[in-house]
This record gives sequence, C-alpha cells and structure tokens, in this order.
Amino acid sequence: MLSHQTFATTTRGLRRDTPPMKLFEKAKRYGIWNPSDIDLSQDQQDWRKLSDEERDVILRLTAVFQSGEEAVTLDLLPLIMTVAQEGRIEEEMFLTSFLWEEAKHTDFFNRFLIEVAGAPADLSRYHLDNYRSIFYEALPQALSRLKDDPSPAAQVQASVTYNMIVEGVLAETGYHVYHTTLRDNHLMPGTMRAVDLLKQDESRHIAYGIYLISRLIASDDSLWDVAESAMNALMIPAVGIITEAFACYDPVPFGLQVDDFANYAMMQFQKRVARLEKARGASLDDIARVTQEAIDANDA
Ligand SMILES: [Fe+2]
Ligand SMILES: [Fe+2]
Repeated sequence: MLSHQTFATTTRGLRRDTPPMKLFEKAKRYGIWNPSDIDLSQDQQDWRKLSDEERDVILRLTAVFQSGEEAVTLDLLPLIMTVAQEGRIEEEMFLTSFLWEEAKHTDFFNRFLIEVAGAPADLSRYHLDNYRSIFYEALPQALSRLKDDPSPAAQVQASVTYNMIVEGVLAETGYHVYHTTLRDNHLMPGTMRAVDLLKQDESRHIAYGIYLISRLIASDDSLWDVAESAMNALMIPAVGIITEAFACYDPVPFGLQVDDFANYAMMQFQKRVARLEKARGASLDDIARVTQEAIDANDA
C-alpha cells in the first residue's frame, strides 16, 4: 500500500521557479478559454458556400484532429500517474491543466462537427493506415506501457510519441493546414480563433515534453539513443499520414501542395531532435534555464 512519508509543500515548499510551475502559471492565464464561447455563425455560412471537395478536405482534417484530441485525452493518464508516483508535485500540477485542455480541444472539434459540418455520421473512413498505426496503436501502447513499466526509458518512449510526434510534428503541421486552407482564404473565423487558442495550449504541452525528455537524458545519456530511435521510427508513419491524405485528391482543393506540408513536418521534427540533443551532458540547471527561455519566447 502506498503511504506518504513527507509532503513537498510542507517541507521544501513548491518550487515556483521551475519550468513546470512556470507552465502551470501560463496555463492558468491562457488555458481558460471556453470552446462553448467560440462564435461559429460565420463558419456555418462559409461551410454552405464550399464545394463538395473542399468540404471533404475540411472534414478529413477535422476527423483526424477530433479523434487525435480524444486519443490524447484518453491516453495521458498513465504519464500523470507516473509523475505523481515519483512525487513530482510541480509537474503533476501542470499536467492537470494539460489533461483539461485536451478535453476542451475534444469539446471544440465536436462542436464544429455538429454545428458547422451538420453532424456527419461515422468519420472513421478518414483514418487511413498510417494514421491508424500512430493513433490506434503506437500512442496508446507507449502510454499504457507506463502502467506496468514506469522506467525512464518507457517515459522517454511515451513522451517522444505523445509530445514530440503527435503534438510537435502532427498537430503543428495540422495547424499549418488550417492556416493555409481557412485563414489564407478568409474562411471560418470562429474555427481559426479556436485553432489559435489550441495551438497556444499545445505549445505548453510540447514545452513540457521537451523538459521531461531532457531531464531524463541529462540523468542518463543512454536514453538519448531511446529518444532518437523512437523519433526516427515514428517519423515514417507521421509523414505517411500527410502523404496518404493528399493522395486522396487530384488536384487537392484550395491549391494545397503535399510537399509544403511534408517539408513543414520535417522542419518541426528536426527542430525537436535538435532541442533534445542539447540535453546530452547538460546539467539539470541548464535544462531548466533553456526550457525557461523557450517558455518565455513561446517557442517550444
Ligand atoms: Fe490538444
Ligand atoms: Fe496537447
């Protein structure tokens, strides 16, 4: 049976100057937007003006985001439990906002589907092979493994899959698709407002993932190999999600070019690998400082 020997808050005190507490402060300020308050009236009018193919692209994009947000909401708990069991109260406090935000993202896309897209029936047809390999398999497997194996290596695998690939590469590339499809065509201002807020939430999630993986690599350099090989293995299906979606259209509506988005995903990937590599041989103080700089600059 678990028993507590001591409490951080009544011994050492909360470490308010650490990256997780700084992220928690930011979450309390910026993560409190309400998906129910987003005005979708113009979006409803814009939807009616689109061609069938244009609607299909937006429905596909929404279908992968909607279930992606559900997946990250469902799958995060074992990581929160692992951090809690290690007594990392500051990290757990931040992670409470993280999970709540994922639930709100799930909430928003559901509103879009019902109120803008006319409550379409089953959208699973938009989940193709590469999508399934990450969201139906790799993500839940990497996170649920922590229930039996909370080792540092399993934590690295989980956070690389969740924070670096799903959030850092795929969600970031998805926002870029939203911008190119909707904002550049002056369409659906409510949805774009939500996507902007969601992207801001995600930047805190990614910053936490970089902090977590960096802290683990700094404590044990052999974990760099775990991180690097997980990144490389997952990048293949991650780019596959982009190419398999674009292959469904010829030409692709809105003038979208597959290379723009595959290259964007590669750029995000390389940026995260470079950030993680900086943790090699670094002290925990260095990692806290570098994370803090990225948080201040809003650049995870
Ligand atoms: Fe999210
Ligand atoms: Fe997230």
